Amino acid sequence: MRALVINQSGGPEQLQIREVPIPERKRGEILVRVHAAGINPVDYKIRKGITNYRLAKKLSRIWKFPLIPGSDIAGEVKQADRRSGYKPGDKVFAMLPTGKGGYCEFTTVKEHHLCLVPAVSSFTEAAATPLASLTALQAFQKGGEIKEGDKILINGASGGVGSFAVQIARAMGAHVTGVCSSDNIMFVKDLGANEVIDYKSEDFTRSNNRYRKVFDAAGKSSFDKCRRILAGDGIYVSTLPGRGMIISLILNFLRKKKASLVMVKPSGKDLLFMSGLMEAGLVRPAIMKTFLLEEGAKAHELLETGKTRGKIVLELTG
Ligand SMILES: NC(=O)c1ccc[n+]([C@@H]2O[C@H](COP(=O)([O-])OP(=O)(O)OC[C@H]3O[C@@H](n4cnc5c(N)ncnc54)[C@H](OP(=O)(O)O)[C@@H]3O)[C@@H](O)[C@H]2O)c1
Repeated sequence: MRALVINQSGGPEQLQIREVPIPERKRGEILVRVHAAGINPVDYKIRKGITNYRLAKKLSRIWKFPLIPGSDIAGEVKQADRRSGYKPGDKVFAMLPTGKGGYCEFTTVKEHHLCLVPAVSSFTEAAATPLASLTALQAFQKGGEIKEGDKILINGASGGVGSFAVQIARAMGAHVTGVCSSDNIMFVKDLGANEVIDYKSEDFTRSNNRYRKVFDAAGKSSFDKCRRILAGDGIYVSTLPGRGMIISLILNFLRKKKASLVMVKPSGKDLLFMSGLMEAGLVRPAIMKTFLLEEGAKAHELLETGKTRGKIVLELTG
């Protein structure tokens, strides 16, 4: 089968198309013919070899090159155990564990990581969804359920994770403030945000509003900076670990206002929840651009600008 492989640690040129064997399906796994594969910042971070943190450095050693990157896939079931909940031809999508490999024509997926593609979605839309939407959903599971009217602030509202976070929080009845650059104000409003703050002209951490949850989808702020704008029992959740975050987590037991870190995990159950929101018309993946599999290097270059709006997807079939 064709796969887009990271040859060795380095720039986007290290992404090369190779012929590799179709993976062998183990018991409890489903073989999926991939029609579209979503891309996420973790893919280029693995390619570059993460150098920020000691822990991440250690983790990056477990990813041996050459490897097939990609965590998000949508496609068609080719083989499944007879007693599984899936049959050949079913349209499915999934988040794969990091480093498992989605930029390829076939992959194997654990049944409990899989979900049927929402009836309203194309393969491209489904492939844009898993990792980013589950990050937002799992971040919102921290610090208690979102209740109708809760004030939520989302920093990085125009990115892959943020664009889902805005829609999910609105679907749960929250009053959402999105933070993005001036270029993306209309985009974030169209996603459903009640209010939008342009971070280039206003420091959201100086706001007079108090939020029950601050979700730092971009990972550009910190608990210490956001503490002021948290409500009495509010929580700050970030997508990025760092020394400051570790200290904030350790000091949580001393405070009512909490810091938290989301580390997204594959979950068919959470995807089913997302599928429900998509079928109800409450969430729609925002796709900025699609590329062919062989254009993966260009797709990585674009994502690495850190300025993309919504998601980028690789298409493997027409
Ligand atoms: N811990 C986890 O499990 C987990 C899971 C998923 C993602 N992540 C991490 O979370 C981060 C975001 O992921 P993503 O998929 O959303 O990335 P992304 O799609 O590349 O994010 C791009 C967006 O970031 C926004 N942005 C850039 N600088 C900003 C700033 N200073 N303030 C606010 N927004 C800013 C940009 O908006 P403007 O153009 O308007 O500036 C752009 O729309 C990445 O670092 C990723 O690795 C972690």
